[in-house]
Amino acid sequence: MSETNNVLVCVAWPYANGPRHIGHVAGFGVPSDVFARYQRMQGRNVLMVSGTDEHGTPLQVQADKEGVPVKEMADRYNRQIVQDLAGLGLSYDLFTRTTTSNHYAVVQELFTGLYDNGYMIKETTLGAISPSTGRTLPDRYIEGTCPICGATDARGDQCDNCGNQLDPHELINPRSKINGETPDFIETEHFLLDLPSLHDALKTWLEGREDWRPNVIKFSLNLLEDMRPRAMTRDIDWGVPVPVEGWQDNNAKKLYVWFDAVIGYLSASIEWAHRTGDDDAWKAFWQDPSVPGYYFMGKDNITFHSQIWPAELLGYAGKGAKGGAAHAFGELNLPTEIVSSEFLTMSGSKFSSSKGVVIYVKDFLAEFGPDALRYFISVAGPENTDTDFTWDEFVRRTNNELANGWGNLVNRTVSMAHKNFGEVPTPGELTETDQKLLDLAAEAFDVVGRNLGDAKFKNGISHVMHVVGEANAYIAETEPWVLAKEEGAKEPGSRLSTVLWTALQVVSDCNTMLTPYLPHLSQRIHETLGREGVWAAEPEIREVTDSSPAAPIGVGTPDPAQTYPVITGDYTAQQARWARIDVVPGTALAKPAPLVAKLDPELAETGPEWAPVQK
Ligand code: MF3
Ligand code: ZN
Repeated sequence: MSETNNVLVCVAWPYANGPRHIGHVAGFGVPSDVFARYQRMQGRNVLMVSGTDEHGTPLQVQADKEGVPVKEMADRYNRQIVQDLAGLGLSYDLFTRTTTSNHYAVVQELFTGLYDNGYMIKETTLGAISPSTGRTLPDRYIEGTCPICGATDARGDQCDNCGNQLDPHELINPRSKINGETPDFIETEHFLLDLPSLHDALKTWLEGREDWRPNVIKFSLNLLEDMRPRAMTRDIDWGVPVPVEGWQDNNAKKLYVWFDAVIGYLSASIEWAHRTGDDDAWKAFWQDPSVPGYYFMGKDNITFHSQIWPAELLGYAGKGAKGGAAHAFGELNLPTEIVSSEFLTMSGSKFSSSKGVVIYVKDFLAEFGPDALRYFISVAGPENTDTDFTWDEFVRRTNNELANGWGNLVNRTVSMAHKNFGEVPTPGELTETDQKLLDLAAEAFDVVGRNLGDAKFKNGISHVMHVVGEANAYIAETEPWVLAKEEGAKEPGSRLSTVLWTALQVVSDCNTMLTPYLPHLSQRIHETLGREGVWAAEPEIREVTDSSPAAPIGVGTPDPAQTYPVITGDYTAQQARWARIDVVPGTALAKPAPLVAKLDPELAETGPEWAPVQK
């Protein structure tokens, strides 16, 4: 851990080309937030950043489809995505976007550093053109056979089968995904990131990674086998201008979307610092090598975070075979850990809005609220393997575990204490059974905490739910409703007092440990336990004006007068800490309101109207 107690949490940037579905938030959203919230509860200073990814062909193609200017579309989806993610309670310190003056300026600074250090090489390459329209064909809209592994469905940017990056002209039997035609290839100039000269530095860095998930490190080391220069510019009129004389005013050439998107982590940190009023505040998260940086994403993003982004950082610092010197931002930290998840599928197929296999976050939140989804993703999400979402499983988990298991434990414990005492009762001497349950809960802080620190979210929540199960068994066994009939039951130190006090303590403990997972519910349970103030802070949406310490150059830069929504929040004022809070006898208790609504079992068969089960 860092000497300064700082932790950087970097979350993959969703494309602003449509509303987000639950597959997206299962991959990058919920896991990163659970992690950040846990770190804050441990008293660490977290900087959690992300934003919408708004350049490149994914945006352009969708805007063409909708027949609207690309920025106009990006504005609309950026707003929608901000609503979705804030609604889920994702506690970003700053969630911004890539179409800001600040982002453009920071991206250009990184490019310039790489260029000055000799890691950007100009080359004439072959670009694909659609013979029918004469327009440039985006790499990922070309399909063909992979020249490396022979997979027949490789794309012009990457082969998902072997993970290698490709150039479209390398594909065997290339064809346009849009209309099947064979593209023409014409000569065009581009800047390429000189990966071979960064190979050794990357290798040394990767070999020093100790606790990456085995599949991630294996995949990343494998990428070193085939390292060639990669084009970091594109023939496209939408993106960050290339900050080179003769290029910056050419509106037909822009930086590659992945070159700029990964720089978002840095630019968002700089924007965050600027907005806090201390322009240098980002440095404590990027320049101090003892500060860990955790990156959260879906598995299709690994290449860009374990190769392209570190290569950009190494080249910018002058640490490749060509040497060089660090530029204005100094020497910047490389990722400490890459936490990637697998895919959430629906009835076996990958979520896809075009095929109508989709559950939008917005609809989900409107009907079920944030914590039911957070629970499902945490306990049954695609942490280690592709996972199928079914309504049946969602109903079962919500009703049996969240409502009957957890909600009911809180409800009946507090109800009985309220009914018999109106307050937290005073316990008498503890029996072995009481002590055993209390010890189990106390020890769980370590077990669950270790899992959360290692990004093993499923293990963490399963262990808390195990304690919840033991607490329910304890109540079944001690039968407080029978004890309530004993003479002197309402006296301090009665058996009833002791049992209910014990159960309340364990409810309090479980609520603390569930806080990173279920922040909204935990706030309500905090109040149910007769406590006051903010337990788990929620993010807020603020409308801000574009503002940047530096100005970008070239043609087609953002309007500095634009306003846009950001997600931010003050999470320092919250009370939640990763430790037992003693339940204090005499604390007033009110009759609890129901905490978790049970779902109609019908839903398991039919699904909701907006995402019906396909029979
Ligand atoms: N927009 C990309 C995707 O959805 C993720 C970008 S992550 C970033 O796959 F770091 F590059 F921003
Ligand atoms: Zn391949």
